[in-house]
Amino acid sequence: MSAKLKDSLLQSVRFREMLPTDVPAIMEIERDAYSFPWSEGIFRDCIRVGYTCRVLELRGIVHGYGIMSFAADEAHVLNICIHRDLREQGVGRRLLSYLLGYAHSVGMNCAYLEVRPSNVPAIHLYESFGFIRVGIRKGYYQGSPTREDAWVYRLPLPHSVAD
Ligand SMILES: CC(C)(COP(=O)(O)OP(=O)(O)OC[C@H]1O[C@@H](n2cnc3c(N)ncnc32)[C@H](O)[C@@H]1OP(=O)(O)O)[C@@H](O)C(=O)NCCC(=O)NCCS
Repeated sequence: MSAKLKDSLLQSVRFREMLPTDVPAIMEIERDAYSFPWSEGIFRDCIRVGYTCRVLELRGIVHGYGIMSFAADEAHVLNICIHRDLREQGVGRRLLSYLLGYAHSVGMNCAYLEVRPSNVPAIHLYESFGFIRVGIRKGYYQGSPTREDAWVYRLPLPHSVAD
């Protein structure tokens, strides 16, 4: 994709709060993206308990989403996902930047997240923002045939990488 097309794609991206009516569209993206997807109930619970749940729209259609929880002055990025057709065009970077910017704007001083060591695209994305690996949670993720560890990453806010 040319730089001009990528620019116009990124300018067309919109963010808004996630609604319960978005969950079916989200589940399609989620099931396609992960071997062990979240259930519909988890998304509904995240909305219900007031986590920061956002969808990313392109021409009015949900193409991605991000979910964060806040505790004290720490944000926890719980899920970030982009529709397969839109990946590797800068949209995930835009979504993460939006989420971190929002977290900082409401007083969060750092962000944490977990990632599977096998998730190379996500690790590249996080490290390009300056996230630093600060720990490992043994057997954190479901896996086949065995559970997989999580790498825990931390980033002080505000983040300094532009989107
Ligand atoms: C991880 C994810 C959100 C990245 O979204 P994306 O829109 O493809 O990412 P971007 O195009 O904005 O890329 C941002 C950076 O991510 C990295 N990246 C993205 N795809 C990559 C790939 N396939 N291989 C290596 N690095 C990759 C690059 O460092 C890229 O930076 P660059 O453009 O300077 O090279 C997307 O792959 C996704 O939704 N995956 C499925 C769900 C998931 O695994 N979520 C993370 C759970 S922890």
